[in-house]
Amino acid sequence: MMLTDDQLAAFHDQGFLILPSFFNDDEMAGYKADMDQIQALREAKEPVPYLCQLPHLGPLIVHPKTLAMVEQVMGPGFAFHHLHASRQGPGTPGANWHQDYEQEPQVNRSHIMVHVFYYFNGLNGEVGDLVVLPRTQNTVIANGALGHLGQQVLPGEVVVDDLPPGSAVLVYSALWHARRAKPGGEDRVRYFADASYCQAGVKWPSYHNAQWREILAAARENLGHETLFADDHFFDVRAGKAAWRERQGSLVLDILPTV
Ligand SMILES: [Fe+2]
Repeated sequence: MMLTDDQLAAFHDQGFLILPSFFNDDEMAGYKADMDQIQALREAKEPVPYLCQLPHLGPLIVHPKTLAMVEQVMGPGFAFHHLHASRQGPGTPGANWHQDYEQEPQVNRSHIMVHVFYYFNGLNGEVGDLVVLPRTQNTVIANGALGHLGQQVLPGEVVVDDLPPGSAVLVYSALWHARRAKPGGEDRVRYFADASYCQAGVKWPSYHNAQWREILAAARENLGHETLFADDHFFDVRAGKAAWRERQGSLVLDILPTV
């Protein structure tokens, strides 16, 4: 078991859980090396492999500690949704208040989706702070509904700006959060990654990259874990959005018995 009962209860109540020093130094060196390699390829305008194909970031998706923690939260048989990784330095813009739960359209929170935020160089109050609004994970709003708030201070928010290298923050994807831009970072580049997982039992919107099926196939080939990377957890998100956005009136009419 990765999480204690108290940690699990705090996560379900507050909607997030801070896990300082989740990784060891060797693991972090590998993750950072992969991110440096990606950056070099991008700058050279050369093709960048899928992250699941990289020697360290690929196995990060199936890190035993992460999988154990996610299973504690949502039970077995869950799906991998995506992994992002980006180096952030001076001037990296913040991210306005938002939530990242995947559903088309957003109507409930029946099943759990989580993001695991990884800070391989920690957080030190430079570049950008993670800010979260506890207990908002069950409030049903569209992903971008909070954009008008920008990155302003909200009553009750928690600022996460001091974490040792290799820390992780487990969040309900539906939790309201932002990255509040801060000055500095010249001497300490931020290595940030986030991995996302969806509870089994419903079909989820796929990752937004049109190649989502190819990415999952590459993950199965490189990392095994057939269930974790199965296509059938998902429907194509673009088709899903198109289907309901063309509709007028109340979608609930589709499920009411005819009278
Ligand atoms: Fe986010």
